[in-house]
Amino acid sequence: MKLLNEKYAVVTGANRGIGHCITEKLASEGCNIWACARKQTDEFEADMARLAEEYGVTVTPVYFDLADEAQIKEGFKTIYKSKLPVNILVNAAGVVNTDLFQMTPMTVMRQVFDINYFGAVTLTQLVLKLMQRQKNGSIINIASVAGIDTNPTNATYGTSKAALIHFSKILAAETGASGIRVNVIAPGPTDTDMVETVKKAVGEHILDRCAMGRLAKPEEVAEVALFLASDKASFVNGQVIRVDGGAN
Ligand SMILES: NC(=O)c1ccc[n+]([C@@H]2O[C@H](COP(=O)([O-])OP(=O)(O)OC[C@H]3O[C@@H](n4cnc5c(N)ncnc54)[C@H](OP(=O)(O)O)[C@@H]3O)[C@@H](O)[C@H]2O)c1
Repeated sequence: MKLLNEKYAVVTGANRGIGHCITEKLASEGCNIWACARKQTDEFEADMARLAEEYGVTVTPVYFDLADEAQIKEGFKTIYKSKLPVNILVNAAGVVNTDLFQMTPMTVMRQVFDINYFGAVTLTQLVLKLMQRQKNGSIINIASVAGIDTNPTNATYGTSKAALIHFSKILAAETGASGIRVNVIAPGPTDTDMVETVKKAVGEHILDRCAMGRLAKPEEVAEVALFLASDKASFVNGQVIRVDGGAN
């Protein structure tokens, strides 16, 4: 018996990195997916068709830029019009910024918040309406240890993730009684394209705080997302789970 048979999930950042890995993990457990990406490409469409074929689920691409509220709303219409439920929302898409605060133009800071915070929150508000009607749902926000720990060069990225974490805890308190759980995964440095940008800023110090002394694999983050999405986490709400190999 698969963990997510007949469930429907919306996943952002489905085209690469952690979001792609979560998309495949949920699909492999029988979950139908609305796979959200910024750009339509033949590679992405072929890849999503492969997942659908391999795991016997529907994987439907939806396109919007998270920095553009009108596009998010337009993309969500496709999901809404299907009249299908949405049981799981994974806000995985995000951008990093490693500038020192004094070197960061406010336009850049706003751009990062638009994607990492306001984009995720806008989509959450739309999906939540469906979940409230259903009286069930699991919302998983991918934040970062940078939203908990304080490091130089994290003033922009870290605060956008801290906002997402605090928002998630408040939302969990607001929606728990309706059967909707909201949790956060806070990965440490993870082996995706994004980590290359971070390495440029901090070099080998990237693993200084990691007890296990290595990057996370995106699959290790996806396993936790699967747990939170599933009924195995039926009483887990308002939590922030670090996936960082432990602090030293
Ligand atoms: N990798 C790490 O070390 C690490 C650690 C902690 C937390 N995280 C978090 O994990 C999540 C996934 O990161 P990742 O490592 O998988 O990074 P990644 O490989 O760089 O992928 C980022 C994803 O976000 C999408 N995205 C970026 N801007 C977007 C926009 N404006 N609209 C829609 N989609 C957008 C990208 O789409 P495009 O392909 O179109 O750019 C891509 O799918 C992020 O929230 C990140 O902050 C990552």
